[in-house]
Amino acid sequence: MNAPVSKKLFIRTYGCQMNVYDSERMTEALTGAGYESVDTPDDADLVLLNTCHIREKAAEKVYSELGRMRKLAESKAERGETMRVGVTGCVAQAEGEEIVRRQPLVDLVVGPQAYHRLPAMLDALDAGKGAQVLTDFPAEDKFAALPQRTMRASPSAFLSVQEGCDKFCAFCVVPYTRGAEFSRPVAQVMAEARRLASSGVREVTLLGQNVNAYHGEGEGGTWSLARLAREIATIEGIDRIRYTTSHPNDMDDDLIAAHAEVEELMPYLHLPVQSGSDRMLKAMNRKHTAEGYLRLIERIRATRPDMAMSGDFIVGFPGETDADFEETLALVDAVGYAHAFSFKYSPRPGTPASTAEQVPEPVKETRLATLNDRLRVHQVRFQESCIGRTMPVLFEKTGREDGQLTGRSPYLQPVHVLAPESALRQILPVRIDAVFPNSLSGTLVDATF
Ligand code: 5AD
Ligand code: SF4
Repeated sequence: MNAPVSKKLFIRTYGCQMNVYDSERMTEALTGAGYESVDTPDDADLVLLNTCHIREKAAEKVYSELGRMRKLAESKAERGETMRVGVTGCVAQAEGEEIVRRQPLVDLVVGPQAYHRLPAMLDALDAGKGAQVLTDFPAEDKFAALPQRTMRASPSAFLSVQEGCDKFCAFCVVPYTRGAEFSRPVAQVMAEARRLASSGVREVTLLGQNVNAYHGEGEGGTWSLARLAREIATIEGIDRIRYTTSHPNDMDDDLIAAHAEVEELMPYLHLPVQSGSDRMLKAMNRKHTAEGYLRLIERIRATRPDMAMSGDFIVGFPGETDADFEETLALVDAVGYAHAFSFKYSPRPGTPASTAEQVPEPVKETRLATLNDRLRVHQVRFQESCIGRTMPVLFEKTGREDGQLTGRSPYLQPVHVLAPESALRQILPVRIDAVFPNSLSGTLVDATF
């Protein structure tokens, strides 16, 4: 596509950080094809819904949004304007042609492995070739084929290093939508990290559905995530490294040790356990026990005592009894999560657990509410433990109030501080004066700044 005219692109992103990253990369790919980003679909020539299939609700949202897009497209058509609509992401991958059948408005359906093909697919639409659906896993590497990343508004960026999953937890669609585990080669990741650093990024979050299973080809053979993190830490300008999401079974000694040695690695770890019951963990095909998980966290905390833990939980997985659920609550108490996500089990088509007898919805509801109450107790406790502490904050953006900036603590908490705009992109010590359920506020230690 060589059109010099600027067309307007709007992308709505659902789901995980991987989708946020992918949306950025698609924007870049389409910028090269004559598009510029806009903030609303109202005056967009192309709308992409970058979707999530992880739970039923997430997938259904896409169809209601497509309904709204249809109305918008119709009112544009009355004004003689056209708007193309595409569905990308995991719903696109899972449902393919079915999306066009259910909502004929849709012009494009593109799975997560094929985003680099978007400009060519738009060309095919221009040539009148009809709706374009691409959900196979093309052999060429999309990361290499996507254009290079450029300017950055925020000092914090996502960097996908790994995609897909071979674990096949019995509830999860990811192995089906994102495919088999794939790790980007070290040189490619390093080049992207260096470009990010030179465009002002100070914090990178390495992304992967199973990020700590990273095994990219690098000098001398296969590199682990620990080795990759150590190498990224040597890049001038990169002062903070995070990674998500990890699986307990891939949390090896070297990665744990790296948390003591590499000061850029932040003391916050998202390590989902899903359940505290061994019976459920087995049924979920998690291949670890609750005890094994707790021992792992002990080892992590022995290495990095201030490590704040985050997790994911599923309640109401098929077969879960009250006793199983109690074990989840006990595990929550034993770990003391700083933050966590909890979900009602949602049967996903094609996954092993979807055909099993389901826990009744009201039971799921009650368990979710109980679990959330318990998680909140620990989150509040963690927030309160921050009062009076001084911690380095990376200032990311202007805050809601005048003269205020918002940054992130090492533990990923948003921190609101009265500070001059010159503090943006800087990491400065802040004394925490007040805590809220989801954020902190504090004062710059160096008042002269
Ligand atoms: N139902 C509910 N929650 C799910 N998750 C994944 N699949 C399902 C499902 N079918 C949750 C898990 C995972 C997080 C990203 O989403 O907790 O860690
Ligand atoms: Fe899904 Fe399990 Fe793989 Fe995570 S490890 S992406 S929950 S299958």
